[in-house]
Amino acid sequence: MEEKIWKCSCGGLLDIDFRPHFPIDKIRQRKPTMWRYREAIPLLEDKNTISFDEGFTPLIPVSFGTKTVWIKQDHLFPTGSHKDRGASVLISKIRELGITSVVEDSSGNAGCAVAAYCARAKIECEIFVPENTAAGKLAQIQFYGAQLIKIPGSREDTAQAALRAAEKIYYASHSWNPFFFQGEKTFAFEVCEQLGWQAPDSVVLPIGSGSLLLGAFIGFNELYHNGIIHKIPKIIGVQAACCAPIYKALRENLEEIPKIDKKDTVAEGIAIAEPIRGKQILEAVKKSKGGIFIVDDLEIKKSLRRVCEKGFYIEPTSAATTAGLSKYLETSSPDEIIVSVFTGHGLKTTEKMLKILKESSLVPEFL
Ligand SMILES: Cc1ncc(COP(=O)(O)O)c(C=O)c1O
Repeated sequence: MEEKIWKCSCGGLLDIDFRPHFPIDKIRQRKPTMWRYREAIPLLEDKNTISFDEGFTPLIPVSFGTKTVWIKQDHLFPTGSHKDRGASVLISKIRELGITSVVEDSSGNAGCAVAAYCARAKIECEIFVPENTAAGKLAQIQFYGAQLIKIPGSREDTAQAALRAAEKIYYASHSWNPFFFQGEKTFAFEVCEQLGWQAPDSVVLPIGSGSLLLGAFIGFNELYHNGIIHKIPKIIGVQAACCAPIYKALRENLEEIPKIDKKDTVAEGIAIAEPIRGKQILEAVKKSKGGIFIVDDLEIKKSLRRVCEKGFYIEPTSAATTAGLSKYLETSSPDEIIVSVFTGHGLKTTEKMLKILKESSLVPEFL
């Protein structure tokens, strides 16, 4: 845990073996931030914490059709997405390890988060993004002072370019680096505390690289093994129909995550054709007795309109989750306690929001 590495020496994935503690009485008295679970976060010294007092986002009931779901408002994080959970812990650990420059690749939001926390920690950072990343996210990354590198081609081409850079610079990756997941897991801690230290019956989460889904699964397991909660919720993942490798693996009962022919989607944040931790995601869904739903672009856009009409301003990628949630609700039981999430803020994707607004005034089935 104290080595400057982000993958195993065998070249494979690295995971952290760490014993968390949950001193509930102390936790209750602390500031409402994700760092209130300090004994469950693998950082040696408090002085290395890089934080904006983020987290403990509101968990509020929102109605979807005839059912009510608890929604975690992670679009309200400082950089506007749930990726701040991972970035806060990862960049804190990076400071603790004495690393002074990092590289990360992203469809936008993880890049914004890593850039912001590096700015606060005074760590140099290079962010690789696909050329067509939303302008708002590109501006954000540059305003934080990061070096922005736009890569032509697919999201996978961007990942390859970052991996090459990571041969020389420490990789602050939200998919490879295990410390990122140690931050994302606070989602589960907050949800359970906000429900009165109880686990929900099910959680509906996006699957892109799986940082939130796997983080949540780690978090629920840690609470369970510490006797704080008494069951692991069903994990329900959502993928975009035109980029759904894990859905395909689950449906066809495949051992490996298949190669897919990815098409463009309005939910670019979850358009990950080759998720590094794909097998772990599949295993988490299966172990929790959950499932995976896929949603197409029209369903995403419709869900976006419906959610925004309730007064929440989320980005299209976030609406993929709510579209999947609506599908899940068609068969969920009436008394089930269901948690889902708004992952990203709409203000980051103004051009896309305007385009969808225009389309929806032209296409009658939108209304
Ligand atoms: C708004 C938004 N929602 C969901 C996701 C998917 O998250 P994850 O990579 O944790 O699966 C992303 C990823 O970038 C995102 O930006």
